[in-house]
Amino acid sequence: MIAVISVSVFMDLYIAMTHPPLHHDALLEKVIAAGQEHVYRFYDSLTEADKEHLDAQVAAMDWELISKLVSDVVLRPVPFELPRSIEPAPYLPNKPIDAATQDIYARARHRGITLLRDGQIAAFVVAGGQGTRLGWPGPKGTFPATPVKKKPLFQCFVEYLRALEARHHTTIPFYIMTSTANHDATVDFFRRHDYFSMPESQIMFFSQDMLPAVGFDGKVLLETPSSMALSPNGHGGSLLALHKSGALSDMRRRGVTQISYFQVDNPIVRCVDPLFIGLHDIHEADMSSKMLPKAFGKEKLGNFCLVDGKIVVIEYSDLPEQLAEARQADGELKFRAGSIALHAVRRSFVEQLNAHGFALPYHRAEKKVPHIDLHTGKPVNPASPNAVKMETFVFDALPLATKSIIYETDRIDEFAPIKNAEGVDSPASAADIITRRSSQWLAAAGIDVPKKPDGSPNAVIEISPSFAIYPEDVVDKYMQVPPIAPGSQVYLP
Ligand code: UD1
Repeated sequence: MIAVISVSVFMDLYIAMTHPPLHHDALLEKVIAAGQEHVYRFYDSLTEADKEHLDAQVAAMDWELISKLVSDVVLRPVPFELPRSIEPAPYLPNKPIDAATQDIYARARHRGITLLRDGQIAAFVVAGGQGTRLGWPGPKGTFPATPVKKKPLFQCFVEYLRALEARHHTTIPFYIMTSTANHDATVDFFRRHDYFSMPESQIMFFSQDMLPAVGFDGKVLLETPSSMALSPNGHGGSLLALHKSGALSDMRRRGVTQISYFQVDNPIVRCVDPLFIGLHDIHEADMSSKMLPKAFGKEKLGNFCLVDGKIVVIEYSDLPEQLAEARQADGELKFRAGSIALHAVRRSFVEQLNAHGFALPYHRAEKKVPHIDLHTGKPVNPASPNAVKMETFVFDALPLATKSIIYETDRIDEFAPIKNAEGVDSPASAADIITRRSSQWLAAAGIDVPKKPDGSPNAVIEISPSFAIYPEDVVDKYMQVPPIAPGSQVYLP
């Protein structure tokens, strides 16, 4: 039985928990203790509303944590050290390879569907990022992503979840993590679209924590006289935000035991995949991941590796070229498992990560951060990196898991990320993948798709999740597919 809590009640609880009453003098003491009293440099000249705004920002910060990070991450950073022994991480293949694995996959699928039917699986999207590379003015989830209907990313996720719910006669609670920079715009977007027909009581929005950018001298930067230069604390912050926002308690109340974690940038992500969650569950894993065989050695994906018997992700920028390009005897890449940032996480594992303070390490990213000069109050637009942003990464939880599995997925079936405005991982490349996926599914069902001379589809084709979420679904609906004219735009609803 699923208990229901409305978005507004959830938000009220959340605001009450995260925004304690403000007392300026107490806040001033906190920043003085942290050596950051300059954040109040312009306070006396601010309007009452601006004073309140700055006080609210200061109150929302954990100044003890900031002091520690300034000291450990900004002033005395430990450079990244490649572990001495790195092996490729083992993974379960996309399709079973023999009778024994066939049996395991069948059991896993059955287990995943049982968990789904019992309402034990929640979908969780991390949508707190700033999406700077894409250059879209709103929250990234509002970006029109599909090639024919231009459906926003958020709509793609809800439609997928609704299709899965209908298929298995169940309810999938949907948790959406925002950041304070895009929270209101995200909630408002869902409201204006009537939650894309998902009952409002099933969707929970909450923000992750923000952290200030810190100059190389250890001083927090001000963006304006009444505002610090803040940014979200990384997607690893999602595992903390689940705890702090009350989302974990909400999950407990609803009977959720497994969390299906995904990023906001992929319109064809299987937001919940019963087979993957089932494999994770029957292996009694705490946190598991999906992987893709990398297209080439230096592809910009995190690399799944095995270090001291633990699965870790080494970012593409940290894996030396000779390892990234290393080949096995059969010519395959040695380190071929690329992370697409899709995880199955046991709720109890997230509770454990928060039991004694938050467990994930903070990384240092040197960035160009616009700010104001503390003496003149004038804006400064640096031409080179001038500050440190501190972030946690969700995959740093993997080595903390007692057990973790990796499952291979198919690139065209599940990975069409939109990260950049143009070129690789852009709206255009995602649209192309969606059309190619649709065309593959149609061809597998025996339906003719016109081709260009280079063999690529000569039509733009989008299949709605309510029409098909697996290739086999198209076979069952063969008769509903109209003839596809060369150069046409086709949408299968
Ligand atoms: C990420 C992974 C990379 C993986 C790739 C797959 C890192 C460092 N790299 O790269 O290993 O192969 O995706 O597509 O993560 N987010 C928040 N809050 C934050 C920061 C990010 O919610 O504070 C969310 C974003 O909204 C987005 C996701 O996390 O949904 C990914 O963030 P991004 O920083 O764009 O990671 P990538 O560089 O794309």
